[in-house]
Amino acid sequence: MSKTKTIGILTSGGDAPGMNAAIRAVTRCALSYDMKVLGIQRGYRGLLNGEINKMSARDVSDIIQRGGTVLQTARCKEFTTPEGVKRAADMASLYGMDTLVVIGGDGSFRGARDLSNSGVPVIGIPATIDNDIGCSDYTLGYDTAMNTAMDAIDKIRDTATSHERCNLIEVMGRSAGYIALNVAIASGAEKLLIPEKDFELDDIIRNIIDGRNRGKKHYILIVAEGIGGSTEMAKVIEEKTGMETRATILGHMQRGGSPSLRDRVMASRMGYHAVELINEGIGNRVVVFKNGVTTDIDINEALNTTKTIDEKALDMAARLSI
Ligand code: F6P
Repeated sequence: MSKTKTIGILTSGGDAPGMNAAIRAVTRCALSYDMKVLGIQRGYRGLLNGEINKMSARDVSDIIQRGGTVLQTARCKEFTTPEGVKRAADMASLYGMDTLVVIGGDGSFRGARDLSNSGVPVIGIPATIDNDIGCSDYTLGYDTAMNTAMDAIDKIRDTATSHERCNLIEVMGRSAGYIALNVAIASGAEKLLIPEKDFELDDIIRNIIDGRNRGKKHYILIVAEGIGGSTEMAKVIEEKTGMETRATILGHMQRGGSPSLRDRVMASRMGYHAVELINEGIGNRVVVFKNGVTTDIDINEALNTTKTIDEKALDMAARLSI
């Protein structure tokens, strides 16, 4: 029998494709256990402002295929203060929330941890296109964002080949290079720059000239957001190689669009797992995907876990780009 009767659910931080599928999964699983579900609009800000509505199964119809988040998302300054956290905990108790489900990234989980220390049991579901949450091999939105970036790079590659140009393409990822690494492999890029690895621009310039001498028709350089400065870098490359060079910053297009199959299924699995925990009376956990299995980890431990870049994949990307 369910020990928790009322759950709150919110999305927080940068939106990610798959958030809607997770909202749907949490809502419907909870309703199947006769729990009451309260949807909180605009993340923690909505919790503080009482932007809270009861959710039915129909409220989450027709959203599994949609990008963004129907609950909206926001960054909330007040919630970062001890007074704000206390007030949020009071609001959760006023609305009778036994557990709060937070769908978001590391920053959102830090807020959730603070709330749990104020007596509100929380469950986190990792969602960010950056895949930079240490405790989970996968975060919702990552697959869709990489596919979106890959499609855009394929298009740029066509024109790069026609004009025999060098094209720098900057992809998102905050201070992590996970998106960049995979899209570089998938799009057959010549070079990859990520914050986890030092580089010398002179080496790249030499590499571009060598590539052209070996008959390469283009030079695709993927630059992670954490490196940045693509536009200026493109100017230097053009000047030093004599090869026409253009820079494209893909930006927020990577955050939108219909979630991929992987994101919809992962969101459904994670949402289901979150409610199973709640039903068993377990709180203060983050749902994670580890070694092919959906499981969970203590929220404090989750926030202390770090992740490293796959060195073998980096080596492979370099060897395949000759
Ligand atoms: O965390 C997701 C992300 O898209 C990062 O890749 C990027 O650095 C950041 O959010 C951009 O945030 P904003 O939408 O606030 O500009």
